[in-house]
Amino acid sequence: MIYSEKVMDHFANPRNVGEIENADGIGEVGNAKCGDIMKMYIKVDNGIITDVKFKTFGCGAAIATSSIATEMIMGKSIEEALKLTNKAVVEALDGLPPAKLHCSVLAEEAMKAAISDYYKRQGIDPAPFVGEITPHCDGETCGCDVNH
Ligand code: FES
Repeated sequence: MIYSEKVMDHFANPRNVGEIENADGIGEVGNAKCGDIMKMYIKVDNGIITDVKFKTFGCGAAIATSSIATEMIMGKSIEEALKLTNKAVVEALDGLPPAKLHCSVLAEEAMKAAISDYYKRQGIDPAPFVGEITPHCDGETCGCDVNH
């Protein structure tokens, strides 16, 4: 299996690992395919994500995708962050082997779960903004050709 240099870099030196005390939103999702778990914390100020951290019991591809995803949403508005797809994350990493594409879904879902939690804490129904959070890769959202 060949990983790009960017994947190897984010796996070896993951950015924004940890927890945020007094986070404004926390999302935890599991990957039904492999049982791995991802937790994401966000700090939001005036609709802008001012800090984001993640923790995972996941594989290297999950670590690399989460690491780059946190960099891509840091400083962005919630609306912009919600537009981030796992496809864009995978592209930013210069690709992932097809068998590891399902791992990239964890990052997107954990981020959406954290934003949902943020909305709920504000007393706002997140559904119209975030939509359904699929608990695992459905084989469509990730564009993965693996049979789940
Ligand atoms: Fe589980 Fe990659 S094998 S997230």
